[in-house]
Amino acid sequence: MIYINESTLEFHLQSSNMSYIFNIMKNGQLGNLYFGKKIRNRESFKHFFNQPEVGIGIIAHHENDPGFSLEYYKQEYPSYGTTDFRKPAFQLESEDGSRIADFIYKGFRVYRGKNSLKGLPSTYMESVEEGDSLEIELEDTTLNCKLFLTYTVYKDRDVITRNARFENHGEECIDIHRAMSFALDLPDYNYEMIHLSGAWARERFIKNRKLEVGCQYIDSSRGASSAHQNPFIILKRPETTEHVGESIGFTLVYSGNFLAHVEVDHFDATRVTMGINPFDFKWELKGGESFQTPEGIIVYSDRGMNDLSQTFHKLFKERLVRGEWRDKERPILINNWEATYFDFDEDKIVAMASKAKDLGFELFVLDDGWFGKRVDDKTSLGDWFPNLEKLPNGIKGLAEKVVDRGIRFGLWFEPEMISKNSELYEKHPEWVLGVKNRKLSMGRNQYILDLSKKEVRDYIVDILSERFSEAPISYVKWDMNRNMTEITYQDLPHKYILGLYEILEKLTTKFPHILFESCASGGGRFDAGMLYYMPQVWTSDDTDAIVRLNIQHGTSLGYPLISMGAHVSDIPNHQTARKTSLKTRNDVAVFGNFGYELNLLEFDSRMEKDVKKYLEFYKINRKLIQFGDFYRLESPFEGNTAAWMVVNSERSEALVGYFTILAEPNPGYNRKVVLKGLDSNKKYLINDKFEAYGDELMNMGIIFPQPERYFSKDSETQDFKSKIFKLKECK
Ligand code: DGJ
Repeated sequence: MIYINESTLEFHLQSSNMSYIFNIMKNGQLGNLYFGKKIRNRESFKHFFNQPEVGIGIIAHHENDPGFSLEYYKQEYPSYGTTDFRKPAFQLESEDGSRIADFIYKGFRVYRGKNSLKGLPSTYMESVEEGDSLEIELEDTTLNCKLFLTYTVYKDRDVITRNARFENHGEECIDIHRAMSFALDLPDYNYEMIHLSGAWARERFIKNRKLEVGCQYIDSSRGASSAHQNPFIILKRPETTEHVGESIGFTLVYSGNFLAHVEVDHFDATRVTMGINPFDFKWELKGGESFQTPEGIIVYSDRGMNDLSQTFHKLFKERLVRGEWRDKERPILINNWEATYFDFDEDKIVAMASKAKDLGFELFVLDDGWFGKRVDDKTSLGDWFPNLEKLPNGIKGLAEKVVDRGIRFGLWFEPEMISKNSELYEKHPEWVLGVKNRKLSMGRNQYILDLSKKEVRDYIVDILSERFSEAPISYVKWDMNRNMTEITYQDLPHKYILGLYEILEKLTTKFPHILFESCASGGGRFDAGMLYYMPQVWTSDDTDAIVRLNIQHGTSLGYPLISMGAHVSDIPNHQTARKTSLKTRNDVAVFGNFGYELNLLEFDSRMEKDVKKYLEFYKINRKLIQFGDFYRLESPFEGNTAAWMVVNSERSEALVGYFTILAEPNPGYNRKVVLKGLDSNKKYLINDKFEAYGDELMNMGIIFPQPERYFSKDSETQDFKSKIFKLKECK
């Protein structure tokens, strides 16, 4: 709902539990009045306008109004250069070198529903009933530039989306040095900032810090959103827990360089800005052109961080992901990467696919190494035609054989890259991204293709279309294994991402039946931008069940289980050398988009039996896991255990996973896990063994039996144990 008081120029965006109120300040710019828990609408909130008394000291104020200084005001899209000294939402430079801007309110437009952004991914609505949008028009007449700020509020989700668009109506060029997707000023700084940080093989670990006066930020300048910092932050009150209290989540629907910046000023007020990273960024906005920022998403909850996460999950599952696969259960896949690496041929792959079918897998994915002369990672990226030595019948012949055995076929690509040792490089060395006459840094022995060039984008679309059309390919793993270096121009990283989005738009439209999974050395580009095109992501190359507890727990802060590829792999684990039981590996991986990644030709009959059982279990519970509501019960970041739970929308079924990291001596008899999300009055049957009411389970919890006390010499380790509980409503 959007309420507008046209005489006082106040705007109130309201959803089920959230209010966002702003107004036009007396200098004609946009001020913020309130963001937080829903409050009733009033004709006017003028009683909150209260003109602050400008203090004595070195304060800049307006010439004719000594009482008016912008640094005393909460604002919607602030600038630097006049009387506000905080980090601004934008910075423009005109040809005479001036960086002063004064965008004055011109008018507004309200419409039902939500528009898409040209060339950029965004959340959407399926009907105009789902919410409303408000576009505020502002103008700087000296710059001859217009600024449009768009806000969308979903009626039944506590979500506001924002974006900004600059239009140059003059003849002179305007350099954009900074154009954030949004700014949000909050009146105090009693928050902790949570972000998801890491590196390859340990992506999205939860970090938490108390806000302090000054600036704190996370960013990426790697050309991708990155494994190192995810474009996602939460501000939570210190007392907020997973299930109680206030928090605000912020993210970007964008996959490139970003900045999430939080500044606490000298009045203890907090300013959050988020958008394309202004570091090493410049965009020339010529006369007649416009610049569109990516979409920013702000989510509010006063019911704990788990509720905040659920709002993100639902939004992403229902109104970010598109296409045929959005509402479909995803197939259980088996990927050959850790089983064979580059060492395979057609016979081996067909044998694996046949065995996979017998065990119950639904999709066989052939990973890296099938094209050009690819026998290791030093060659052939860009030559997307089959290696006939390994695959004499090509991809077509192989895919047909696999599909004939009754299982779907999927294929790996790394389309954005080029090997120096490739036919493509011989033909088009000028397609490589990099500064001329400089040594180019390598990453995994490869270069990046310059996606800002149309001919490069066309090549990728054409060659991939050929492969996708000639064979029954129903899944594509889209990998990207290095970051950007020797960046030519400061607009290149953004142009690259726009180019990538253009390619993905074309391919996903042309091949709607293909399920795309994005990957960047695992989870190096796990963001809402990629989810718009590819509904699932390879969460991490690290499949060790214990590290996965942290990775999947951290990722779940912003992203739904259905988006997280989670595979059972071999032991000793290829990343950590840790040995965990098949049961534990399965129990962790089922809390995601389930698959396997090991050599099933080496299974003995016992292992085959167990694997069949685990696959059967996932199939029975797949709908619940992929489309249910997720609860984090215990955090591996806070102790020796993790506990997760999914509940279906009818609250008639649930699945609980409980994981102990190291064995505890003498744990006592009070070990229990307290559940969430059930119906207090329903009675549930647990693991077909005992019955309990929802209120018992959500207060007393499930009490565990005592672990064994005495072990023989051959006892299995008691470390890394897991337990799964299935709850069904008693009819
Ligand atoms: C990195 C990915 O994360 C892996 O799963 C695998 O596809 C390799 N690339 C192949 O080169």
